[in-house]
Amino acid sequence: MANASGLFTPAPPRTCSPCTPIYRSAFSFSPTPRILCSSIAHRAEKLPPSHQAQMVDSRGCKLVGCGSAVPSLQISNDDLSKIVDTNDEWISVRTGIRNRRILTGKDSLTDLATEAARKALQMAEVDPEEVDLVLMCTSTPEDLFGSAPQIQKALGCKHNPLAYDITAACSGFVLGLVSAACYIKGGGFKNVLVIGADALSRYVDWNDRGSCILFGDAAGAVLMQACDSDEDGLFSFDMHSDGEGQRHLNAKMKEREKEHHELGTNGSLLGLLPRGSSYSCIQMNGKEVFRFAVRVVPHSIELALAKAGLTRSSIDWLLLHQANQRIIDAVATRLELSSERVISNLANYGNTSAASIPLALDEAVRSGKVQAGHTIAAAGFGAGLTWGSAIIRWG
Ligand code: ACO
Repeated sequence: MANASGLFTPAPPRTCSPCTPIYRSAFSFSPTPRILCSSIAHRAEKLPPSHQAQMVDSRGCKLVGCGSAVPSLQISNDDLSKIVDTNDEWISVRTGIRNRRILTGKDSLTDLATEAARKALQMAEVDPEEVDLVLMCTSTPEDLFGSAPQIQKALGCKHNPLAYDITAACSGFVLGLVSAACYIKGGGFKNVLVIGADALSRYVDWNDRGSCILFGDAAGAVLMQACDSDEDGLFSFDMHSDGEGQRHLNAKMKEREKEHHELGTNGSLLGLLPRGSSYSCIQMNGKEVFRFAVRVVPHSIELALAKAGLTRSSIDWLLLHQANQRIIDAVATRLELSSERVISNLANYGNTSAASIPLALDEAVRSGKVQAGHTIAAAGFGAGLTWGSAIIRWG
């Protein structure tokens, strides 16, 4: 089992006890000037003006824009009951899901992610040319080598900013947020796009009623921006993985048997002809994943709160990966948070993997529910197994 945890200074401006030094980790940033950023700033002076703009010595990061996009095709529970032995009552009672959006043949996940990112930039009033990092959190890229550079290109980010994918299934977006903060706080980056986008419908076994009813496709994005330390909007995080649990949830690579070639008897490399590979459909032990989520997520949020010196009462909104309404309710109950403080749009979209948190955040911000200054406890969990939480402030 692996884990990482962190605390970003300064402490948030709410009732909180002083941060305990023992919680500091390799990811925390001390109040003393950072050698790394100083050297970056020094080097930046020698760079052309267009590149200097990317190098700032900032101490905080904040969420300044969000956006989302979903496919046009909507599939209801009744629609699903025509292809598998299920019904609206079973699905809505056991999961809370009523509809989901599905990418059809010609739709592109990369286009969806680009649209979400563009909306986040518009809200933040940041030009694509000012973006200096694009993180595409996805487990379903349309290019095995990564989709992020295609999004960077489509957005028109002219200075060739770094763009790459992060693969961590339903935890991907939280991991992306924390990665963005590390780049900003430790690396001198200024504007980082964090996109969560997945099309799990492409890997669903549409004959398996235990899993096909859960998933939908979507994209969501936020723009994280460098700021002064007193405006810092990522207070703390807690992240883990446990490869032991992979057997409960996976979509493993499989080689096409017909194209399998044995190594020649003399060991000749000529026997190793190219093999076509693909991935199996999602294999999931729903009960085990359910138990895992309800066990680890409240604990992870408690740890992150403690690292930030905050209590549950500091949370304005609980924003979990949208997997099952019963999981969301169970976590809220464990944390003693009333349903009014829980963000959920699961009924309309199902489990959209890495997209679910930024999609729900975007809807909540645009509807006026989440407002500038609100504190959000966000948590992702899923395949890997991976899980993690972050205490953030919007705006
Ligand atoms: N319609 C009707 N009946 C069904 C359906 C269906 N769609 N699916 C299963 N059933 C039946 C089962 O066959 C079983 O029948 P039986 O009692 O006669 O054997 C009964 O309903 C109960 O099935 P369970 O699997 O025990 O149902 P459960 O209450 O556990 O709900 C579910 C299943 C919804 C999948 C739940 O376990 C769950 O949400 N788990 C978490 C999944 C999750 O969060 N994944 C997130 C990660 S995704 C990622 O990272 C990529």
